[in-house]
Amino acid sequence: MSYFEQLESLLENSYSPFSHFSVASIVVTRSGKIYRGVNVESVAYPTTICAERNAIFSAVTDGTKVGEVSEVHILARDTKGELFGATPCGSCRQVIAEQSLNQATIYIYHSAEDITSHTIAELLPDAFVSLG
Ligand code: THU
Repeated sequence: MSYFEQLESLLENSYSPFSHFSVASIVVTRSGKIYRGVNVESVAYPTTICAERNAIFSAVTDGTKVGEVSEVHILARDTKGELFGATPCGSCRQVIAEQSLNQATIYIYHSAEDITSHTIAELLPDAFVSLG
């Protein structure tokens, strides 16, 4: 199954009753392992977690070490149910930069065929990734 197909089915697990904006993410590590995440909202709104961070936190929980995150794939549906090319929020960019040591590539799916990619260094230049 392609990443697009996997993301489409993962999107059904999004818990987004407040925004009605659903997001699914697949993270690929340098060793080829795959971790999945969806956005999970909360009635206490700021408690919401984005799909990208959910996937990366699963990777870290499973033993993925800093610098091993290689790819982040993202699929989103907007409030009308249409596919929407969502770019990661600022908080997710920080975590992606940190866990990939500025090396990740981010793939944004506008459709199965229309995929744009960006490096995390493009999306978060001059990232703060260590305490020295
Ligand atoms: N969201 C993500 O999960 N990832 C993004 O890249 C953008 C935003 C979620 C957070 C919230 O549940 C909903 O989308 C609307 O902001």
